[in-house]
Amino acid sequence: MRILIIGGGGREHALAWKLAQEHTVYACPGNPGISQVAECIVGDPLSTAIQLRPDLVVVGPENPLIEGLADRMRVEGLTVFGPGTDGAQHEASKAFSKTLMQEAGVPTAPFSIHTDAASARMAAKARFDAGQSVAVKPSGAALGKGVVVCDTYEEADEAIAMMLEDGDLGEAGETVVIEDRLRGWEFSLLSVVSGTEFVSLPVAQDYKRALDGDRGPNTGGMGTYSPVAKVDEELVQKAEDRIVRPMLQAMKEHGIDYRGVLFSGVMVVEGEPMCLEYNVRFGDPETQTVMRRLGSGLGELLYAAATGQPLPSVSVDVPAAVTVVLASSGYPGAYAKGIPVSIPGDLDESVVVFHAGTAPMRRDEPTDALSRRGEGEFVSAGGRVLGVSATGATVAEARAKAYAAAERIEFEGKMLRRDIAAEQ
Ligand code: AMP
Ligand code: GLY
Repeated sequence: MRILIIGGGGREHALAWKLAQEHTVYACPGNPGISQVAECIVGDPLSTAIQLRPDLVVVGPENPLIEGLADRMRVEGLTVFGPGTDGAQHEASKAFSKTLMQEAGVPTAPFSIHTDAASARMAAKARFDAGQSVAVKPSGAALGKGVVVCDTYEEADEAIAMMLEDGDLGEAGETVVIEDRLRGWEFSLLSVVSGTEFVSLPVAQDYKRALDGDRGPNTGGMGTYSPVAKVDEELVQKAEDRIVRPMLQAMKEHGIDYRGVLFSGVMVVEGEPMCLEYNVRFGDPETQTVMRRLGSGLGELLYAAATGQPLPSVSVDVPAAVTVVLASSGYPGAYAKGIPVSIPGDLDESVVVFHAGTAPMRRDEPTDALSRRGEGEFVSAGGRVLGVSATGATVAEARAKAYAAAERIEFEGKMLRRDIAAEQ
């Protein structure tokens, strides 16, 4: 098949890397890493797809989905993996998503929805008075960084002010969800969905906080590993039965024909899975780890989901994978861009370095780095710059290889967590 991937981050690099093993892959816009396995086309995604007429388009990030790219492509007769704006509401509006969870009977934290600070404060205060702490969430899409988990009412008050009064998150924070804080541990379940049918990919564990020991602010994700020993088949089954299946049924009842990934953020509370949120695309960096474990057939699976044919299974050939994110100093806050990055050419063969936020180095702008460059010439262009992904017979082995490689990759201000997959 000829497959066009929309996007240019680590997730899209991982998808391109996997799909290029069996198909011809294009990416729009792609990035310097993706260009090693696919033809990158810089341009408007819709016109690119119309011109290219690929057999399948895979839309990577949530924003184009929220903005209706998949719908517009379908109008043009293209075969697309990725939900329309109707399904993408899960990420455009947590208020929508939580309300549908409630309707579908999906276990999730009790919540309330607010557009004014006074009522939000009252709700938060009442929860703290009852001995419960809360999470304050912008309803709109804020790159996974907007959620504030609060230990005290003062923190909730501040988060409410930030979102509803100061407008720091813009439109995304004009409506907030206040929900009870859950205590447990998390995993990410990525399900490839065709209407009410689905196939789940191997489970991964993400590390959301910026700093070791789960401290610091929430990020898009600082590393992942798979498999997750704590997540046995029974737990996956429960998550599918209580979180995935009822939501697909509820969407069907609302006339939503969902074709894409439904990513369930699951928190296990006293042994039982609860849904923190749904995303409408592959997780990042989860995908960087999960793609490393798959065998053949991913393209066929995505194509079948996009066209409504019976879903084939996809084999899992590799026992374990670990991805360590190398981020720019300052991430998830402000960070510098344009910093030369050097990757040694002789990393262990189990390692793939996925490009998350990179750009080609401008040759008209010579820097010292040009003379000490490693394989490839590029600069940082995002908060998360690279995902260093390694495979192994065990998570521990993959972890050791990923960190050994991560140490050898250099750029100024390189920031990484040291405890990815340390405890399983
Ligand atoms: P979300 O974008 O809703 O998944 O939230 C981002 C992260 O915030 C989650 O992965 C959790 O680590 C944390 N979080 C979200 N909601 C809650 C909650 N109700 N209780 C505790 N932690 C939460
Ligand atoms: N790593 C979490 C996400 O993709 O939202």
